[in-house]
Amino acid sequence: MAIEETLRIEGGYPLNGEIEVSGGKNAAVAIIPASLLAGEPCVIENLPDVDDVAVLIEMLRWLGAKVEFQNGIMNIDPRGVTRCNPPYELARRMRASYYLIPVLTGLFGHAEVPLPGGDDIGARPIDQTIKGLSTLGVKVDTVRGALVSEAQTPAGAEVYLDMPSVGATVNTMLMAVMVPGNTTIVNAAKEPHIVDLANFLGSMGAYVKGAGTDVIRIRGGRKLHGSNYTIIPDQIETGTLMIAAAAAGGDVTITGAIPTHMEALSAKLLEMGVYVHDEDDRIRIRSNRKMRPVNVKTQVYPGYPTDLQQPITALLTMARGSSVITETIYEARYKYVEELRRMGANIRVIDRVAIVDGVGSLTGCPVTASDLRAGAALIVAGLMAEGITEISNVKYIARGYERIDEKLRRLGAHVERIRLKE
Ligand code: EPU
Repeated sequence: MAIEETLRIEGGYPLNGEIEVSGGKNAAVAIIPASLLAGEPCVIENLPDVDDVAVLIEMLRWLGAKVEFQNGIMNIDPRGVTRCNPPYELARRMRASYYLIPVLTGLFGHAEVPLPGGDDIGARPIDQTIKGLSTLGVKVDTVRGALVSEAQTPAGAEVYLDMPSVGATVNTMLMAVMVPGNTTIVNAAKEPHIVDLANFLGSMGAYVKGAGTDVIRIRGGRKLHGSNYTIIPDQIETGTLMIAAAAAGGDVTITGAIPTHMEALSAKLLEMGVYVHDEDDRIRIRSNRKMRPVNVKTQVYPGYPTDLQQPITALLTMARGSSVITETIYEARYKYVEELRRMGANIRVIDRVAIVDGVGSLTGCPVTASDLRAGAALIVAGLMAEGITEISNVKYIARGYERIDEKLRRLGAHVERIRLKE
């Protein structure tokens, strides 16, 4: 019998106090598979205890690695890895399972990984990953729902990405450190987790320069070694907590964060009239819930992140006026809007643009999360709404937010995670 959970939020309570952000999910899901390349034990610290990480642990164990995970610290011993074909039941549960393609191909010369799953937020093609790997001499075919790779003429090369795709940049970096010769990735993604992966690879002895800019240079084929590495704080969780604090009102300090990763969001919150103050690794948000409307356009880093489009749209439902949101990264990231409308929001969606007319209040009701960040948007709405909001499909939220109910409760929110039996 499947256990289903809901998040029950009683809105209208301000948030106050300090809360520590967890380690980055999207950094973790790249760095954990990358650790297999060391051929020796690695220790990775500050990992978030989220479902995507749990699935990766299962997948690594299935491949033959020894993995222990406690209090955010993971010990990975890859010396027993003998398999290169993770099963469909695990791979389909997350997007990042395809990071195992370059890793396992680097170790075994071939791999078979079921096509990736992940959130339903529009088409998520992987042509740039296939292009990156094939430019490095690795043939990748789709066979019966799986990506099947074979290193045919592995060698460094110049890889030009048509768009700065995070996934394609990660996969090409992972392959490039394993193939002999020099690789240049042009038009690379610049997200903080790309820089974190590059730093982790560097800590294992790889030569990776330029991460965080459009051009990444890699000298491949070096022998790598074990490493002890601490991953960056989660940019999107930090942003979600900032938006939640603005939504609920009050005075919240987020600790353990990297404020420079948050500049696009901080600028928008300041424009809305929310107090944002950075100091070292702390971000303080003070809000009286009286907010001006703003226009937001999602872009690749350092632009406004698409993963925070849904939460800020929820916040803007109660701003005093009209806001225009333009989603440029994904074609279908507005599924949650229907749920916000059920709570009384006034939002029109035309293609990739959402026009949000602020309303005086939202009303709590049962709603359903359609993906991870849609879930975050519904939490933000629930904190602002009058009455009770009950969010179902908590499994999506658990994929990427570590104990979000507990964290919000500690700040004074009335949030409960309720187990239901189906
Ligand atoms: N794209 C292509 N071809 C490709 C790759 C991408 O056309 O080969 C397009 C996609 O269709 C999409 C855009 O480029 O429109 C961005 O895709 P990207 O490859 O950059 O995204 P991703 O690697 O699939 C990661 C994050 C997402 C985040 C995006 C954008 C991970 C595991 N996932 O996805 O995170 O939205 O980058 O920043 O790192 C989330 O955490 O909620 C999440 C969805």
